[in-house]
Amino acid sequence: MLNTSRETAEVNDVATLSPVQTDQLKAIIKDIDSIPSLPSVVAEVHEAIRDPRVNATYVGKIISRDQSLSAKTLRLVNSAFYGFPRKINNITRAIIVMGFNKVSNLALTASILDAFKRRDQDFDYAGFWKHALGSAIAAEALAKNLKSGEFEDAFVAGLLHDIGKLVMALYAREAFAKIREHVQEADVLMLEAEMELYEIDHALVGAWLADAWKFPPKLTRAIRLHHNPEAAREHQEIIYITHISDILCRALGIGNGGDNRIPLVNRKVWNALKLNDAVIDACMGEIYAGLDKAKDFLELLN
Ligand SMILES: [Fe+2]
Ligand SMILES: [Fe+2]
Repeated sequence: MLNTSRETAEVNDVATLSPVQTDQLKAIIKDIDSIPSLPSVVAEVHEAIRDPRVNATYVGKIISRDQSLSAKTLRLVNSAFYGFPRKINNITRAIIVMGFNKVSNLALTASILDAFKRRDQDFDYAGFWKHALGSAIAAEALAKNLKSGEFEDAFVAGLLHDIGKLVMALYAREAFAKIREHVQEADVLMLEAEMELYEIDHALVGAWLADAWKFPPKLTRAIRLHHNPEAAREHQEIIYITHISDILCRALGIGNGGDNRIPLVNRKVWNALKLNDAVIDACMGEIYAGLDKAKDFLELLN
């Protein structure tokens, strides 16, 4: 069961919910107790890799304790997206080749895709995940082209930025249906419809989930501020990259962002990242090429 009590949360921390926001969230999410938990191993791994003395064998052993998780993680490691010439058969080897951060992020990705496996209901899963995957690839491409230190974390931030929409689609069905209706009738962004109707948005819902699931703080903040990057006081770079990658995919029409509009690029973010048309063009090419090779990611949903 997820912890919904945020009494101890610092209200000023953008990644945590105030008591009022918690009440708003509980009011729309009727089915809060049925939201799955993540395997405890995932949080353990993220905790372990913060210790500079940790080694690949130790982290490999933690992930390997959960056989299903290590199999899924290795499936992603060996996907065409990474293009290793030879199959990588165990997690320790994957860590040596790809690094701690990358492998722990892939374990997180595998767990989330598994927790949100496809279910029959009135929601465009394929479109949602295509937008998510496109944003992940865009974020990684942006980080690479900008020579950003966030290269290892950008993919997972892009992939999960809209996870709050999925939580609402599955666990706040009534509210989500009304939001979608309002999006169509008023032709507004989903974010605007959420705020107008419930004074809470998917970025907040996503950050709440990320916090409950003990995601690394950087990732929680990227989810929370992807539509409001100016509010970032720390981890700006990954938040800015997530903001741009989302809009880039919306502009390219990759997947389904839930509405018919394209959010505006924040000028301050554009300037701070020193973006230019050449970088965007390079990223666009990489997004299309990457999407083609990343099919294995979406297969974990079946
Ligand atoms: Fe969003
Ligand atoms: Fe998005």
